[in-house]
Amino acid sequence: MELLFFLKSILHYLKPFWKKFILALFFASLASALTGFSPWAIKPIFNYVFIEKHYEYFKWIPFFLILIFTLMGSFSLLQAYLMKDVSTGMINLIRLDLFKKCLSIPVEYLTKYGEGQTISRVINDTSQIEPILGDNLQTFFKETLTVFALLGVAFYQKWDLTLVALLTIPIIIFGAKALGIKTRKARKLAQSATGELTQKMNEITRGIKEIKISGSYDKVSDLFLKELNKFYRWSLKITKYREGSKSLVDIMTGFGGALVIGYGGFLIIRGALSPGAFLSILTAIILIFNPLRKLARSYTGLKEIQGAWVRIQEIFELPEEKGGTLKAFAPFQGFFFKDLSFRYSPQLPLALEKINLFIPANKITALVGPSGSGKTTLVSLLPRFYDPQEGNIYLDNTSLKDFDILSLRSLFGMV
Ligand SMILES: Nc1ncnc2c1ncn2[C@@H]1O[C@H](COP(=O)(O)OP(=O)(O)OP(=O)(O)O)[C@@H](O)[C@H]1O
Ligand SMILES: [Mg+2]
Repeated sequence: MELLFFLKSILHYLKPFWKKFILALFFASLASALTGFSPWAIKPIFNYVFIEKHYEYFKWIPFFLILIFTLMGSFSLLQAYLMKDVSTGMINLIRLDLFKKCLSIPVEYLTKYGEGQTISRVINDTSQIEPILGDNLQTFFKETLTVFALLGVAFYQKWDLTLVALLTIPIIIFGAKALGIKTRKARKLAQSATGELTQKMNEITRGIKEIKISGSYDKVSDLFLKELNKFYRWSLKITKYREGSKSLVDIMTGFGGALVIGYGGFLIIRGALSPGAFLSILTAIILIFNPLRKLARSYTGLKEIQGAWVRIQEIFELPEEKGGTLKAFAPFQGFFFKDLSFRYSPQLPLALEKINLFIPANKITALVGPSGSGKTTLVSLLPRFYDPQEGNIYLDNTSLKDFDILSLRSLFGMV
């Protein structure tokens, strides 16, 4: 279900590019059809020209070869280019949506997540999604078709022998699933490690003057190295799971082949199977495992992307700033603060406590106080960058929360 939801949200971004996507798939299937066609064509051509001695066609063979390979190369290029076009376009849309979302979430969430983490989600996590089209979706479409075609051939020859060979497939499916779940978790943690890295870098550049004064280079570098190592560990884990799913298929290919040879040999000896059919099934079964390996790999790939998507989704799910519907128009009497208390987060002490204040319109009011007394905080409550936990601010008799947020903010200038 979770996977379905994820695919749905991804496919939503595919919509504007579906024509290019279909075209890419079309060229991909042409390219793979030609890949299969060239070895297949060699046999009839050689038989006809050399064995049956139709030498007058001989001169066409080089041209034919050049044509096939030129077409194959061109189709591959076209499909790769189109796929990249689609996936980069999708990533751009996702990034734009994330960016817009970041603009509209309350300031406190941005500070809570950390700016570095937010940047990392918009830039790094989205680049994790990109291979989905370039690689995975395409593999899913193409290789699933190949598997069914080969299965069809094998079943047509002898269904019970084919079924015996396919006994290994449940093991592959369960294995790939388990590895997929691990990959998704590891990808999420690797992404959050990348986020931590960006966050640390952000903090370090901000505090660079303090770091230079205190000369604490080693301490800061150690902190950075710790984050680097986290990323290193999770990346290796991902590779382990990813390659693990491929190796699982390799091993199962051995088992599948052994089963076919064992049971097939038995059938041949009993006269229940012709050697031709046996060879045909054996070839189909061995050929099936290559697309299966790619499918298993793209399954873990999909899970990996899902892990990154979870982090992106966390941003999309943040609440947005909510205003009322009233438009704010001059003239006003002024702002009234009523019993207002505010803290930046639950674990921090109150930054403002029980403020009762009237700031009249058309007059100059100066806020004076020692550093940290809350002047900036007080002012940032007016355009609702933050909302107070207790008490409220009114513009004349209307709570600031009832105003349309953009119209309220248009009353302020900032220097
Ligand atoms: N983004 C924030 N997150 C958490 N605490 C904060 C944040 N901004 C300010 N504070 C804390 O809130 C209190 C009030 O700070 P504020 O910046 O409003 O003071 P100020 O009067 O503007 O000081 P200054 O004269 O130095 O500008 C201080 O204790 C400060 O540490
Ligand atoms: Mg200040």
